Amino acid sequence: MCGIVGYIGKKNAVDVILKGLKKLEYRGYDSAGIAVVVDKELYIRRSVGKLCNLSASLEKNPVNANIGIGHTRWATHGKPSEENAHPHMDPTKSIVIVHNGIIENYVELRAKLQIYGQEFKSETDTEVIAHLIKKHYKNNLLHATQKTLSEVRGSYALGIVCKDEPDKIICARRDAPLIIGVGKGENFIASDIPALLPYTRDMIFLENGDIAEITADKIIIKDIKDNIINREMKNIQWDAAQAEKDGYKHFMLKEIFEQPRTIEDTFRGRIYPDEGKVYIEEVKLKEEYIRNISNIYVVACGTAYYAGLVSRFLFENFSKIPTEVDIASEFRYREPILNEKTLVVIISQSGETADTLAALRLAKSKGCQTLAVCNVLGSSISREAMHVIYTHCGPEIGVASTKAFTGQLTALYIFALDLASKKGKLTNEELKKYLKELWEIPLKISEFLKNTESVQAIAKVFAHKRDFLYLGRYVNYPVALEGALKLKEISYIHAEGYAAGEMKHGPIALIDESMPIVAIVVESKVYEKTISNIEEAKARGGTIIVVANESDKEIRDKSDYIICVPKTDEFVSPIMTVIPLQLLAYYISVFLGCDVDQPRNLAKSVTVE
Ligand code: G6P
Repeated sequence: MCGIVGYIGKKNAVDVILKGLKKLEYRGYDSAGIAVVVDKELYIRRSVGKLCNLSASLEKNPVNANIGIGHTRWATHGKPSEENAHPHMDPTKSIVIVHNGIIENYVELRAKLQIYGQEFKSETDTEVIAHLIKKHYKNNLLHATQKTLSEVRGSYALGIVCKDEPDKIICARRDAPLIIGVGKGENFIASDIPALLPYTRDMIFLENGDIAEITADKIIIKDIKDNIINREMKNIQWDAAQAEKDGYKHFMLKEIFEQPRTIEDTFRGRIYPDEGKVYIEEVKLKEEYIRNISNIYVVACGTAYYAGLVSRFLFENFSKIPTEVDIASEFRYREPILNEKTLVVIISQSGETADTLAALRLAKSKGCQTLAVCNVLGSSISREAMHVIYTHCGPEIGVASTKAFTGQLTALYIFALDLASKKGKLTNEELKKYLKELWEIPLKISEFLKNTESVQAIAKVFAHKRDFLYLGRYVNYPVALEGALKLKEISYIHAEGYAAGEMKHGPIALIDESMPIVAIVVESKVYEKTISNIEEAKARGGTIIVVANESDKEIRDKSDYIICVPKTDEFVSPIMTVIPLQLLAYYISVFLGCDVDQPRNLAKSVTVE
């Protein structure tokens, strides 16, 4: 994620930027920084930790300027440190930039620049942009930026300032949000509306490919080829609280709707479907070790544990490695059989869950290789694990996890594919096919999210039921568990997730006319079997709500309510099928008037045993 703010006008830029960044701290808070120009000199201040550290440093040594850019960071490349905090400069210290996004080809670009002896001060993907702009700079910052962006692949929202052109900010956007706030004799940029609301309600929303030159009185938007682009100015009527949630009623809903982007951010720069390549920079498992892995243990808590349950199917099917999945609080107290050929995969959104951290330490003490799938960079688990795959979901604020889950599934999917191809268990054609399936998921989720009325209608009908049963099989069995967990967490309705084939060994006794049964019946090798299980439930009077593929006609006679989702390959289907279940829980919680974002008795990060 990360948040950007920029200002040019008559006010003190430092005040405007700090106040704006405060409103964007939800986008990241592991470090912050600011750059301003005073008398044709650049002043940069950066601090690790929350924004208050930067504010304190600026209070001690104040600076006053009329132009500047600032950043609050949610690290993706490079640990949270002062060197990695934004803004970043070129080697001559004349151009400074802030960036939100991921530069996919930064390794390649950096290597090219290093050939010419350029030194880099940070581990970030961002710094390379400052170097490139300087390389192309011929007294025109806009042109140098256009040239640079023609070489860059990936996502970005950029704010750029040059000490030799101290009357302008250049900004650009591709797949990361950026807004221009239009003032009188002053203008602003920001990642999100709340940062600018105290100053203006007139805003221009940049689109992909836009590059803008902003002075105190003028805004010119162009594309990379220097064509002028016209963008409409919008007047924003939201109040401040609405704006922080991007207009959504709750953070959870906002986070559900963010998923097409957070999934894409998690695989961006790591998969190349056309070539059949996976490149996970942070994982440095040796090929020889991979060939000799005897077994995998996946360990986590809560929603992350359910992501782990899905990963077992991936590791076993793709890589043919025996895999066990365990709840961290159980794993740490049994005597798991671990040795140096065991790979232990630890999954944690926060990276701070006490039991999960203890499980990681246990695995390390037994000589295992450890790999963490984590969302928070610099967290304890990400620091202590030998290898880390970060999910690039940004801060998750709703206590009930949504986007972190699909981020974990995405990261595990690409890691399992990578392992399989390195072990020679997948052909290049197969790898291409599976990568393509993942590549298409964000678009399919966006399609589904365009119309959520069927889910809302079902939520209204069933919001007052006391019990729910969720059924799924195979890769969608963990999704049934996650669906039931979401409902319990935020609506306090008793819900049980069950393997559909196992239902007849117990829960079937609970089924009567008052029991809604939510079943996931998308295309897969267990489709027919799941249908039979649904018929068993229906025969006992249960009301059947299915999550099924749009193309499925047969299911209509066998169910009472249908939520249609686009068709996917079975192995990526959990990333799709969980979305309606998150929404169902959300809408039921809203109908019941529960506290969606902060449900009773729960905590976002459980740092006690
Ligand atoms: C808490 C949260 C859950 C989360 C679990 C594991 O119970 O409420 O949403 O799934 O902890 O958290 P972690 O940060 O380790 O993924």
